[in-house]
Amino acid sequence: MPPKTTSIDEIAVDFATLARLAASQAHDDVRLLLARLIRKYRVTHPELAAQLDSSLKTSQTRAAGGAALRRETPGHVAGTQQADGALSLIKVFDDLGGMEGPLLPAMLKRDIEGIVSERRQREALLARGISPTRSAVLVGAPGLGKTLSARWIAYQLGKPLWVLDLTSVMSSLLGKTGSNLRAAMDHAKANSAVLLLDEVDAIAKRRSDESDVGELKRLVTVILQEVDQWPDTGLLLAATNHPELVDPALWRRFDAVLTFGPPDAATTAIAVRRFLGQDLTEFEPWVGTLAVGLQGGSLSEVERAIKSIRRAHALEQATIEELVARLVEPGIDGMDKTQRLEMALQMARSGQYSHQEISRLTGIARDTIRKHAGPSPRRGRGMK
Ligand SMILES: Nc1ncnc2c1ncn2[C@@H]1O[C@H](COP(=O)(O)OP(=O)(O)OP(=O)(O)O)[C@@H](O)[C@H]1O
Ligand SMILES: [Mg+2]
Repeated sequence: MPPKTTSIDEIAVDFATLARLAASQAHDDVRLLLARLIRKYRVTHPELAAQLDSSLKTSQTRAAGGAALRRETPGHVAGTQQADGALSLIKVFDDLGGMEGPLLPAMLKRDIEGIVSERRQREALLARGISPTRSAVLVGAPGLGKTLSARWIAYQLGKPLWVLDLTSVMSSLLGKTGSNLRAAMDHAKANSAVLLLDEVDAIAKRRSDESDVGELKRLVTVILQEVDQWPDTGLLLAATNHPELVDPALWRRFDAVLTFGPPDAATTAIAVRRFLGQDLTEFEPWVGTLAVGLQGGSLSEVERAIKSIRRAHALEQATIEELVARLVEPGIDGMDKTQRLEMALQMARSGQYSHQEISRLTGIARDTIRKHAGPSPRRGRGMK
């Protein structure tokens, strides 16, 4: 709630803060503070707010191209950068040089494309009195592509993604968290950015800690207001692994909920191919085996496994068939009969393992393998 009146003391404090930031040439912080003061004084001192507003606009024009948070030139390699002051809470992912889209189930993909195309056709929607989706919450277990999808959405809209990790917001600058959060969000709004509030449940998790209940309430209030008032020129995203911890009042306010689930077998296979990159041709015969072996994990786990096998291969630590067998072997214990058979057949189809080896690894009888896959191609060429 904006205060009805602002005391002279409060104005003095703001004046002193502004002077201090200006004297230390903390330009970004000055702009952030200005943005906050404009909001604060808009009701009680409209003339002052208007003056501050025009100062902010002038400073933004001058800072264009030199601001700590700026769009990198196209072609810049995807990366992150840190800004100063309250803005250090924001991490920027800039993929404007290009990126591959996330691999997602058809329905989720459609929902995401919907958000992007609504944004692209904002004018047409507004003409009919409808605003495009302004906010969405991304829900799902770790490593399923929430952050990646947020980056993809921003990329599709030709904007960098700004990420505000609420865990670090919470742990840093206690006592100033609310104002820092507000400043960061104001900055994102002013730039029509795509902003991702990562780990939004961090706020809820800390609620049991009685010592800073007041601070938390303020934070939740800040976020609730922001979600309500987020302009349809920008896009506010939030991500969580723990939807059950998120305040229902907050939850309700988001326009859309995107639910991320584990990848299916076909998606895992596509991911294996993608993550093999330039080693794909060499690994082609083993793709099926790898896909079955890695099925059930998140694509982040698939990526990690494939990267490690590529490293081992590059350093010639073992033959590919040995590396692949080593990678999939531990998972076989937890497989049911159907999955073991599928694994056995994939290995047989690869033409790289004798039925004897396959049988040893999967526990499927050699007769069964032969019945489904024909004779062993490499009889007698067993691994050590
Ligand atoms: N659906 C996907 N498509 C393609 N790659 C993926 C996908 N999911 C995960 N990955 C790979 O795993 C990495 C980590 O995924 P990401 O950071 O998006 O996970 P997350 O859902 O945000 O997890 P967390 O909840 O831990 O933040 C990605 O950078 C990407 O390389
Ligand atoms: Mg993430």
